[in-house]
Amino acid sequence: MEDFQKRILVTGGAGFIGSHVVRLLVNEYPHYLIVNFDRLTYAGNLENLRDVDQKDNYRFVKGDIVNAADVQAAFESYDITDVIHLAAESHVDRSIEGPMDFVMTNVVGTVNLLQHAKEKWNGEEGHIFHHVSTDEVYGSLGEEGLFREDTPYDPRSPYSASKASSDHFVSAYHHTYGLLVKMSNCSNNYGSHHFPEKLIPLMIHNILNNKPLPVYGKGENVRDWLWVEDHAKAIVAIFHKGRIGESYNVGGLNEWTNIELVRFLCQLMDRKLGRSVGESEKLISYVTDRKGHDLRYAIDATKLQNELGWTPSITFEEGLEKTVDWYLANNEWVDKVTSGTYQTYYTNMYENR
Ligand code: NAD
Ligand code: DAU
Repeated sequence: MEDFQKRILVTGGAGFIGSHVVRLLVNEYPHYLIVNFDRLTYAGNLENLRDVDQKDNYRFVKGDIVNAADVQAAFESYDITDVIHLAAESHVDRSIEGPMDFVMTNVVGTVNLLQHAKEKWNGEEGHIFHHVSTDEVYGSLGEEGLFREDTPYDPRSPYSASKASSDHFVSAYHHTYGLLVKMSNCSNNYGSHHFPEKLIPLMIHNILNNKPLPVYGKGENVRDWLWVEDHAKAIVAIFHKGRIGESYNVGGLNEWTNIELVRFLCQLMDRKLGRSVGESEKLISYVTDRKGHDLRYAIDATKLQNELGWTPSITFEEGLEKTVDWYLANNEWVDKVTSGTYQTYYTNMYENR
């Protein structure tokens, strides 16, 4: 283990974005040990990492970031040198139904990790705690303007309030205890392995199965979409080269109203499925709006581009086509992650050997 240059604890590595970060690190940094620490909630699936889980520099630990003993054991067993923290409850609609899980994982879990990192590294130089956060902490934009790193925090949903709180704790551990932290706040991601409760994978799944496409309110809310693999590259760049104590906004200058996006997806899928033009759009169904629905998010990523040279690698049209192709080729993935059969996979992989 001591042969590895870094031993990085990636929390939430079995989730959507976390699995892309783990894959990138395992494949491109064979001199790092990547320890995926995940509670495997409904959103965490080891299916997401089948292609890398046999590599020498990958380990999986089933654990809860809220549980001090779980976190302590992972830090000690693998002599962790750095943390990239993605584990969270991530779905806004669920936070509206039940905020407590969001407070526990996103706030208490983050503070528990910070405390263990502080105790483990004890002021020693060179250990990074990278906290992955969201643009939703900045609140909601009107027709104009972009979120910058100095935009005041104004979270409006239980989810964004919990993420804003966790961001403040990360800053507090830097300012109070000198923990070497970095932060990134990203816009909406899309891509493969996205749990089919979020807008894009849900719509793909429903179009494919001829089910209604539930568009909240009038569909006029705007989101700024980024391909998940570009987000993973940004996280890895910030982890290595970002300035200590700084936060970086990540986004692709790619704004769409929900209804424009759903229509575009319908047209793309009509083509892919050999349906006549306009057939899938007939499935669109306007439903009751989300409570407190933020109108518009849009990111100014100039700081990240100027300081670290990061830019999105593909256009939205290319990324969406790749995403649709992935879901069409991996239809059984949706069945597995929604049916619980991944538990059998987990038992076979990690408990019976
Ligand atoms: P996700 O819901 O797909 O995955 C979350 C992962 O965290 C899952 O694997 C889950 O099992 C794990 N987890 C949850 N609670 C845990 C706990 N108590 N202990 C250990 N593991 C736990 O989320 P995602 O969309 O991949 O988001 C990852 C991170 O990125 C989150 O912090 C989120 O706030 C942030 N983010 C997401 C987006 C987006 O568009 N999805 C955009 C910006 C930022
Ligand atoms: O901005 C970053 C955030 O993006 C992340 O921090 C969150 O973890 C992530 O879930 C995402 O939050 P959103 O609420 O923007 O994503 P969601 O996919 O849930 O919804 C996108 C938009 O689509 C939003 O305006 C609500 C709308 N919507 C969503 C669903 C699930 C619908 O109209 N119908 C739906 O069925």
